[in-house]
Amino acid sequence: MQEKIVVLDFGSQTTQLIARRIRELSTFCEIYPYNKFPENTEGIKGVILSGSPFSVYDKSAFDFDLNLLRKKFPLLGICYGAQLIVHKAGGKVEASGSREYGRAFFDTVNTSDPLFKGLNPMSPIWMSHGDSITRIPAEFEKIAATIDIPVAAYKIQNESTWGVQFHPEVFHTEEGSKILANFLDLCGCSRNWTPASFIESTVAELKETLGEDKVVLGLSGGVDSSVTALLLNRAIGKNITCIFVDHGLLRKYEYETVLKDYETFGLNVIGVDAKEKFYRELQGVSDPEKKRKIIGKGFIDIFDEEAKKLENIKWLGQGTIYPDIIESLSITGTTIKSHHNVGGLPAVMKLKLVEPLKLLFKDEVRRVGAALGMPERFIHRHPFPGPGLGVRILGDITPEKVRILQDADHIFISLLREWGLYDKVWQALTILLPVRSVGVMGDERTYENAVVLRAVTSTDAMTADWAQLPYDFLAKVSNDIINKVKGVNRVAYDISSKPPATIEWE
Ligand code: XMP
Repeated sequence: MQEKIVVLDFGSQTTQLIARRIRELSTFCEIYPYNKFPENTEGIKGVILSGSPFSVYDKSAFDFDLNLLRKKFPLLGICYGAQLIVHKAGGKVEASGSREYGRAFFDTVNTSDPLFKGLNPMSPIWMSHGDSITRIPAEFEKIAATIDIPVAAYKIQNESTWGVQFHPEVFHTEEGSKILANFLDLCGCSRNWTPASFIESTVAELKETLGEDKVVLGLSGGVDSSVTALLLNRAIGKNITCIFVDHGLLRKYEYETVLKDYETFGLNVIGVDAKEKFYRELQGVSDPEKKRKIIGKGFIDIFDEEAKKLENIKWLGQGTIYPDIIESLSITGTTIKSHHNVGGLPAVMKLKLVEPLKLLFKDEVRRVGAALGMPERFIHRHPFPGPGLGVRILGDITPEKVRILQDADHIFISLLREWGLYDKVWQALTILLPVRSVGVMGDERTYENAVVLRAVTSTDAMTADWAQLPYDFLAKVSNDIINKVKGVNRVAYDISSKPPATIEWE
């Protein structure tokens, strides 16, 4: 039976972070909307109540009957979670005169309380709240205060319930992980959730669910679909068939090398070269949305056509990961919409969905990939959009433009690897502009294309900064592209951050 911690989400921006920190402590953790505590409580070792954008006094504040949890599970309330426990037990929460946001320090802290065992009392904590707890009920014991707030943390006597006003999950609370680890000890967690244990239990579950059934899966060349394929392969062997479509908008050599990689992984994979179809359908189309639609639909057509040739397929494998699921978890409606990595395939195919990575974060998928023996260069590839170079060729798409962009991009990416810079950036890309400009080469005047290099640093692609690549590196890339790629006479480097710009151009 899988041990786990449940995080009840009251709408805080840091709810996902709580789950990540717990998992980093080798303990499985799942997020549930505040009003959907799981009926099946098997394996639940403890519960964490998240923060919230609301005050406990707001009419629309998310309310929850804490009697369902108190004294039944070890409980940790964070920020709003801590205030809610106090409020429900008859204590006082008040709008503090000064909103407290940012770094703070303990004025007093009881390090003999097991939640704070081994804590350095001088280490900074991170606050982010408007309301504060000003009075705790008699059975509550204060275990920390700051200069600004009288109750920064409490414990309920004779009960495994704690509350902290600060955020142990954020990086700026330097010893936050220690506090969370102490909580896991108090929950009696054995801390043995690892990529290897995930693989073992997932493969066993897949065997049980799928039996002798056949599965089809679309590979994109990305990490998520590839790790999904490997897991399924380990569980059901040749009963999974993978389809890898070349839409003619992949990076240079990508189709051949990735296909070969898939074969060395032992996957049963069908490669479909559909370049001509896509180029034909995209001819003369400049509108970015239209291009995306054509590429998406073309992909489904090919997949559908190939899958129909297979017999007795019952399941569609998908590389959905946890952030996709959480994004579609609405805290008020709490409907879980299925997320389609490859645009609506299940509806077309009438297949049951199998999504073995749907509870993992991206970095966990990478660790599982490594534990499954996937080579490093495969696991740490930069993200690449589904419509591929289609969104990086501005204006209409022709095979010649694809050739120019592939060649320029290949030089950029190869040099990033050679100079040891590839893993230092989140994503690097080359964009072909729909403009030409005058240049001079030898004694001749040229009138050629301009490409833009873009490299960004990021942690989740939601925000990004342009990477400060060395000038001599940029000079080398620019020289090589202009000298070697026929059709390009100008190279620019994009120095915009996201927001307000985006990573891709389109
Ligand atoms: P933007 O351009 O919105 O991109 O800053 C954020 C991240 O998403 C990737 N991206 C896509 N990925 N299908 C995908 O699978 C798409 O249509 C798509 N559009 C953007 C982009 O490469 C970046 O990592």
